[in-house]
Amino acid sequence: AESVDPPRQKWGFAKITGTFDRAQLQRGLKVYREVCQACHGLSYVSFGNLAQPGGPGFSAAQAKAIAEEYKIKDGPNDQGEMFERPGRPADHFPSPFANDALARLSNNGTVPPDLSLIAKARTYERGFPWFVFDMLPGLQYQEHGVDYLVALLHGYEDAPQGFQLPQGSNYNKYFPGHAIAMPKPLNDGQVEYTDGTPATIDNYSKDVAAFLMWTAEPHLEARKRVGLQVILFLIFFAGLLYFTKKRVWSKVH
Ligand code: HEM
Repeated sequence: AESVDPPRQKWGFAKITGTFDRAQLQRGLKVYREVCQACHGLSYVSFGNLAQPGGPGFSAAQAKAIAEEYKIKDGPNDQGEMFERPGRPADHFPSPFANDALARLSNNGTVPPDLSLIAKARTYERGFPWFVFDMLPGLQYQEHGVDYLVALLHGYEDAPQGFQLPQGSNYNKYFPGHAIAMPKPLNDGQVEYTDGTPATIDNYSKDVAAFLMWTAEPHLEARKRVGLQVILFLIFFAGLLYFTKKRVWSKVH
């Protein structure tokens, strides 16, 4: 079967002045917690991060309340025992499996990757002329990974005639090689949305992908803001230099 490029999505955070859609990130976190978390870790993200500027926009109290819904392994205590306690803002999301061997046993021999950086860790090659842009720093399309995530979550289909699907794998149109160990994770109506957004695979996949873009690039908003300010200043400064040069050299003929 041929490989197909993931369809390009429209993202508010892709613009020069880009910002994340707070409500979308909050819905994405809900999808992660109710679906993906059963198999995938998010080990670079702490609960406190959920309240930091440029993220999903939770208050510190809300982030603390989310932390407290988790049980965190800690210890040893004075008696030398390990114990469990409610999470705190400084704790990171706990991984679903104690180790890779257990993860393999539960998932047909394949370890579900940690999702913290996945939106930046995945890409795909585009054909002419787009690959030319993708080779140039500054002109690269930055949303390959997040578009791929949406496509992957949409990409489950019946294997085409003649495709040899290995035991325990599933056919996915967008997964390289098409045979993926992850079963189709999302179905319409699976996660309840409370803000009126329709509970569809389409929205779930976009929301969780946007959320994972934030986990992979938590300072995206600050980067874009400072970048724009720097460029505007440099344009202004180039103008000043030009007039200064005219003045300094005005007596020389
Ligand atoms: C792989 C996302 C739910 C098990 C992956 C990959 C992503 C992903 C991005 C990597 C694909 C690649 O390598 O290009 C998600 C999201 C989920 C979710 C966003 C929730 C909506 C689940 C669940 C399970 C699972 C519930 C377990 C039942 C796996 C496994 C792999 C995987 C075993 C490795 C697949 C392979 O390499 O063949 N997932 N996943 N995932 N996921 Fe998930």
